[in-house]
Amino acid sequence: MNAPASFARTAPAPSQPAGQPAGAASSAARPLLETRGLTIRFGGHVAVNAVSCAFRPGELTCIVGPNGAGKTTYFNLISGQLPPTAGQIVLDGEDVTRLPVSHKTRRGIGRAFQLTSLFPQLSVLENVRLAVQARQQRGIDLFSMWSRHRDLQAQAMAILERVALAGKRHLTVASLPHGDQRKLEVGILLALQPRVFMFDEPTAGMSVDEVPVILDLIREIRQDRSKTVLLVEHKMDVVRSLADRIIVLHNGALVADGDPAEVIASPVVQQAYLGLPEEEGDHA
Ligand SMILES: Nc1ncnc2c1ncn2[C@@H]1O[C@H](COP(=O)(O)OP(=O)(O)OP(=O)(O)O)[C@@H](O)[C@H]1O
Ligand SMILES: [Mg+2]
Repeated sequence: MNAPASFARTAPAPSQPAGQPAGAASSAARPLLETRGLTIRFGGHVAVNAVSCAFRPGELTCIVGPNGAGKTTYFNLISGQLPPTAGQIVLDGEDVTRLPVSHKTRRGIGRAFQLTSLFPQLSVLENVRLAVQARQQRGIDLFSMWSRHRDLQAQAMAILERVALAGKRHLTVASLPHGDQRKLEVGILLALQPRVFMFDEPTAGMSVDEVPVILDLIREIRQDRSKTVLLVEHKMDVVRSLADRIIVLHNGALVADGDPAEVIASPVVQQAYLGLPEEEGDHA
């Protein structure tokens, strides 16, 4: 299906920043992150198809689209989990397309880790402390080790307070229920202090009372005008309450990009891309 006319967009020339923010971020601000013609093929299937988009500091962009649209794959490309078939990823003016995940993380592209790939047998506190430590990457100074340890511990505790896990700091990660694991993922992301925060359905599988903790944190991160937030989200009430801008992926292609109210209100987008009844507007 063709893109709706009002949201149709063409890929920019490779040297130009793509997309104009519709939300709070100044259109004059230099993009913090750009994808230019970003593409990945799996055999004959193009999962992400020439996506050109620029994300500015101070902007929270929701990425929506039907199941299988390519949202998670787009994140996998940006964070370095998958190498693109074509296209570029530019972070703060620097081409980072081919950098491995660890280098991208160090440069400030932050994506919630799968906790299973961290230290499931260590405690919640230890996992966050290690993330704080990884970010600081200071050399070992034997004389200051103890005070440093206390400092790291205090920073990790402050983060655990923010994600409402302080009371569970001594539990092993493996023993945490799903909702707490998702909160810890966000905590570890906070500890790494990225410039670009990427959340892929951060509240999926959470109980209703846990969701506000995560949404409030995302709101808090968004207050920092130096950060860029990308949020893949199906729940339209969440999208409405958080987005400065919405982009829509469909069959791997960017088919809409604009002001949240306009994108959501578009009947074509609602029906074709979100699969939503026009009045209801809630996917989950
Ligand atoms: N490693 C892979 N190998 C082959 N195909 C893949 C791979 N990763 C993703 N795909 C395919 O790419 C397409 C996009 O998948 P993706 O997971 O990015 O969709 P999504 O928009 O995140 O969907 P959902 O809303 O269900 O999470 C799908 O058709 C998927 O099967
Ligand atoms: Mg996905």
